[in-house]
Amino acid sequence: MHLATSKLPKRKNGSVNAVRKEDLPVHDWYRFVLSYPPHLVRQYMAAFGLTSKDLLFDPFCGTGTTLVEAKRNKIPSVGCDAHPFAALVSRVKINWDLDAQTLRNSFRRILRKAGRIATANGLQALSFDAEMLQDKRGVYGSDIALNEDEEKLLPTGFLSQRPLQRLLILRDSIEEETEGELAEVREFLLVTLAHVIANGAGNFAFGPEIYRTKAKSDYDVMGHFARHGDLMIKELIAVQSADLAKTPSEVFAEDARTLSQIPGQISAVITSPPYPNEKDYTRTTRVESILLRLLTDRPCLRQVKESLLRSNTRNIFVDDSDGDEVKEFASIQKVCREIEKRRIELDKDSGFERLYHKVVSHYFGGMRKHLRALRPKLRPRARLAYVVGDQLSFLMVPVATAKLLSEVAEAEGYKTTGCDLWRERIGTKVRNSLTNEKIVRVREEVLLLQKA
Ligand SMILES: C[S@@+](CC[C@H](N)C(=O)[O-])C[C@H]1O[C@@H](n2cnc3c(N)ncnc32)[C@H](O)[C@@H]1O
Repeated sequence: MHLATSKLPKRKNGSVNAVRKEDLPVHDWYRFVLSYPPHLVRQYMAAFGLTSKDLLFDPFCGTGTTLVEAKRNKIPSVGCDAHPFAALVSRVKINWDLDAQTLRNSFRRILRKAGRIATANGLQALSFDAEMLQDKRGVYGSDIALNEDEEKLLPTGFLSQRPLQRLLILRDSIEEETEGELAEVREFLLVTLAHVIANGAGNFAFGPEIYRTKAKSDYDVMGHFARHGDLMIKELIAVQSADLAKTPSEVFAEDARTLSQIPGQISAVITSPPYPNEKDYTRTTRVESILLRLLTDRPCLRQVKESLLRSNTRNIFVDDSDGDEVKEFASIQKVCREIEKRRIELDKDSGFERLYHKVVSHYFGGMRKHLRALRPKLRPRARLAYVVGDQLSFLMVPVATAKLLSEVAEAEGYKTTGCDLWRERIGTKVRNSLTNEKIVRVREEVLLLQKA
């Protein structure tokens, strides 16, 4: 099948993907590397002609870009994500009803308490703590630490001891000081803490995979928390004053292959599911999820991985059967066979490499289940936009994600109405013996569907 595609964008990928300055409020309360930019959502909300009478759905809502953008434009929305941390972040980012003064009081109490505990444990506020520069190990309260199970989940070197202790003190103070408060107040504060972890306190960065950076001996956790909290409250007041808080929006922690809690009468979907590649979606937010007690031990991590779409070899399990859903798709089966053939030719024999072809079939099978669960929730002729990327992660065998997904969607009662090129990235450079350099371009596209 041929998909009509639009022309290449004139702008460079960086500017296509960058969040514009005017879009930072609320979106930047916590935003992860997997997010797409708000202007992309606006483009499709406009193309679909959405108004306040519609209901926009994001079944893979991540950190809530679609939902926040919908609310800013007075379009009712609903979202879900199977990862509890993503669901928490999205829930906080679309709750614009909280009382600013209550939040300010909570921040003050928590910072006062955390400051006292830190000082009592030899962790004075950074600017006054000359002793800390001498790195005297063992001086600090050794009982302020992750437990053994949590420690095992933390990627090695992602948090230094003193920033970790400061974060734990703050986390415990948030929990104790918000005991009598609304759960929403506590969640707002925890998302503020998550921002501190991912944007300063941790020894990790993204490019686009998560990687370890130089270890920090210490970090001004409380200062960052106070400043970011203050910014979030100011932005909350701004959206409240602009009368934007009333538009309904709801988030569910739910598997998009089931959608049992999601209401009907959805008029449009704008979303970006995982792509079939080697990205472990639980690693991107691992540190924050552990610190916020959303991932407590290995069985808990496994449970979360099982609730996610199969998209990488780290979340394939022996009992998986999503692949059965796409047995009759010759195009998908051909890609799977090609991957296995290439693996055998290249003599690649690790446990992970042997799973490559399974990722592809389970991925498209899972997407088929999702599209099947979604269809009855849609209004007639509902419009859908799926942002997906082609892949070369599995021994350089091309996986044309949008094209294959379009075939799966058509088998589930959807019509393909277009496929826009969003951006291209350079996949890899292959030199042949004549030194000709072949640049492989990998497309990220927006697959446009309509309920048939
Ligand atoms: C590419 S990210 C979405 C990013 C989002 N568009 C944003 O701007 O933040 C994909 C999301 O899908 C979620 N996910 C993976 N499998 C899922 C499933 N079976 N059901 C619901 N969400 C799932 C992941 O946890 C991840 O947050």
